[in-house]
Amino acid sequence: MNPTLFLKSDVSNPYLIYKTMLQNNRVYWDETNKIWAIYSYEDCVSILKNSKAEIPVVNANNEQKLNKKTLEILNNLTRLSNGIQHEISKEIAMLLFSKMKTVAINLIISQLIKSDLTENKIDWVNSVCKKLPVLVVLRSFGFEEKDCEFISEKIESLVKIMLPQKTEEQVKLINEVSSAIFLIVEKQLSSLHFFESLQAKISEANSLSLDEIKTISISNLIGLFIQSFDAGRGILSNSLLQILNYKTFSNKDEIQKSVIETLRFNPPIHNTRRIATEDISIGESQIKKGDQILIVLASANLDSEKFENPINFDIERSNNNENLTFGIGGHMCLAKHFSIHLATEALWFLFDNYKTIELLENNIQYEPMINARLPKTIWISLQ
Ligand code: HEM
Repeated sequence: MNPTLFLKSDVSNPYLIYKTMLQNNRVYWDETNKIWAIYSYEDCVSILKNSKAEIPVVNANNEQKLNKKTLEILNNLTRLSNGIQHEISKEIAMLLFSKMKTVAINLIISQLIKSDLTENKIDWVNSVCKKLPVLVVLRSFGFEEKDCEFISEKIESLVKIMLPQKTEEQVKLINEVSSAIFLIVEKQLSSLHFFESLQAKISEANSLSLDEIKTISISNLIGLFIQSFDAGRGILSNSLLQILNYKTFSNKDEIQKSVIETLRFNPPIHNTRRIATEDISIGESQIKKGDQILIVLASANLDSEKFENPINFDIERSNNNENLTFGIGGHMCLAKHFSIHLATEALWFLFDNYKTIELLENNIQYEPMINARLPKTIWISLQ
């Protein structure tokens, strides 16, 4: 098994691979895939904070044949940009994020469960995890019910926009939905009372036209839906599995601690990528300008130099919160607390409302993805 770009569906326990790499190859050159892979905590932090390691370009020269609206979204996403463009788009994403209204997570999750529960059984992944995070974000920006439904139904196709490589079928589906979603978001954003002043403020500070700011804002609001889909789905899925396994559900505080330790121990996102814009020395290795780098966040979380007895699931460990699952440095996730809160509320709702929750599957299958470990389904019974 190649230890770097493997599909999480092909390996029953990726953490064994990380353990071996941490012991033998903390910084590893993968000659087959021509990519460096970084496994230790210290080295992952140093690359994530290094200004000579940038986010790689996705779809250079539009080789993937994305249509105009899709390109507009892709090229403006803070998650994929560098330099001054990143500074502007990140500021906009953070301003938008700060304008989110609090919504009743309990109400949304109870409706999702009610509409899909059959004979006390439900697939937690497809009925709740794939819908709840995106719906919470949509509702907190006041989108109409029919728009929430449309976007939450189509988002699974749109998130493939982030993939470094895309199949023709994925491109077709992305191109089909991007214009409609763009228009819905444009309409809603323009109706929000804070938007005009946000637009004017950023436009003046950066000498960009109001229209340019509007396009960056629409793209990054769509970016919030995109980012919340896979990672949000994963935190809810993996936390439920850990909590059921370790029976750490007696109160809300225990649930929250379990969510945080799950983010370290069995995270939804396993790696992120960079490209060296200049030579970088790391330990005894020399990363050359232009080399690709895979930062294995999930391995850093198991580094015994950072976490004592890392292979123990221990919700009381004092530094669990220092996991690298949300990244670190300039591109660190802006939704860390939001995601932990969402998962805690949703899982507490589940354990507070049902006396017995049983896992009906003993062999969880994972999506065929390189960067994330996401269960395909989790069938449970609720009594
Ligand atoms: C468990 C849930 C989540 C995880 C594990 C996660 C993980 C990450 C990681 C690893 C990055 C940094 C990537 C890098 O440096 O290469 C990131 C960035 C980002 N995340 Fe999250 N994320 C989660 C949820 C969310 C949610 C719910 C949102 C939005 C509502 C969000 C919005 C963003 C944005 C906008 C960025 C880009 C920041 C920038 O460009 O500087 N994330 N996330």
